[in-house]
Amino acid sequence: MLDLLITNATLPDGRTGMSIAVQGGRIAEVTAGLDAPAHEKLDAQGLLLAPHFVDPHFHMDATLSYGLPRVNESGTLLEGIALWGELKPLLTADALIERALAYCDWAVAKGLLAVRSHVDTSDPSLLAVDALLEVKRKVAPYLDLQLVAFPQDGVLRSHGGVENLERALDKGVDVVGGIPHFERTMADGAASVKLLCEIAAQRGKLVDMHCDESDDPLSRHIETLAFEAQRLGMQGRVTGSHCTSMHSMDNYYVSKLLPLIAQSGVAVVANPLINITLQGRHDTYPKRRGMTRVPELMAAGVNVAFGHDCVMDPWYGMGSGDMLEVAHMGLHVAQMTSQAGIRQCFEAVTTHAARVMHLQGYGIEAGCEASFVLLQARDPVEAIRLRATRLKVFRKGQLLAQTPAATAALHLPGRGSETAWMR
Ligand code: FE2
Repeated sequence: MLDLLITNATLPDGRTGMSIAVQGGRIAEVTAGLDAPAHEKLDAQGLLLAPHFVDPHFHMDATLSYGLPRVNESGTLLEGIALWGELKPLLTADALIERALAYCDWAVAKGLLAVRSHVDTSDPSLLAVDALLEVKRKVAPYLDLQLVAFPQDGVLRSHGGVENLERALDKGVDVVGGIPHFERTMADGAASVKLLCEIAAQRGKLVDMHCDESDDPLSRHIETLAFEAQRLGMQGRVTGSHCTSMHSMDNYYVSKLLPLIAQSGVAVVANPLINITLQGRHDTYPKRRGMTRVPELMAAGVNVAFGHDCVMDPWYGMGSGDMLEVAHMGLHVAQMTSQAGIRQCFEAVTTHAARVMHLQGYGIEAGCEASFVLLQARDPVEAIRLRATRLKVFRKGQLLAQTPAATAALHLPGRGSETAWMR
């Protein structure tokens, strides 16, 4: 007897009429038209069953703090960093944990069951690190939270930066972060990349650096990051986040850079909602979009994922933990409007992001964890277009969240009343 049998599902790869058999929290079988005894059966009615959403870039220590102690007036990255600096002395562990847990509730409701969050290690008290380690333990039964030691003030620029970051790793933070473009000089930025990659290599950790989050075409730390990944044999274990300067780089230089990133196995995470908001702020008109070169990176064979980055914090006052909203913005900013391009945007918040996080057992195949989302959409394109309702969210075969289908009751003159499915 199976624990759960889902029938008549459409999968992201286009297969229809599929049955997904679940036993012991894992997918036992994925077959067209299978029927078998099960404790629970669910007819998907031809709707899309996708692996759960994955956010490969977030800041959970700052989330839901919008307006504390004030809002970002200029809307720039630098005022956001200054504002976060004003907020840090006021942070308490209890309030931070409460906000992070509230965000995780939103995430689960939206089918987002794995999040890589950076956590600021600049404060020697490591209050945010301890708080997010506590959140990680608390949410472990329903959400995978991976933490990145993130020296927001610059690992070399701030006093005790290296020591604080290493102490955070000692406490159990999973990934080594960095912010080379915020170090005092280009040389210091490059030195920070080298140092942090060496720390990660020695400790057997993954790397995920905020890299070149500016409109400066000469901010080229991604080159150093790719070189160090290759030199240290860390192919497939290193991610460059944001990489917005690539938007403004000279095309000839990029033609040399893309193969280097691909060869080094460095993944790139773009954050469309934040990049379109924070970049180009020093421009008059025309204003640059600022997001990195997503389709070109993908075409070069680089694993590119989309992150949410911020939700209601010093940098961004919008957001709701909806990775379909992230994909929706990503396809607009990158002009990835072909059917193939839209599907790649869906993969950027699912399979590509799972690869960035090195998630095990991810996907809808026999042997994978039974962690998936039933969407009120017939395929990934419709899912993004509608930011479709997450009808049911399962993790390891267990129902975590359900939301009623979005419908509208219409009362149209001359046509009577009817209920319309929203699409
Ligand atoms: Fe970030």
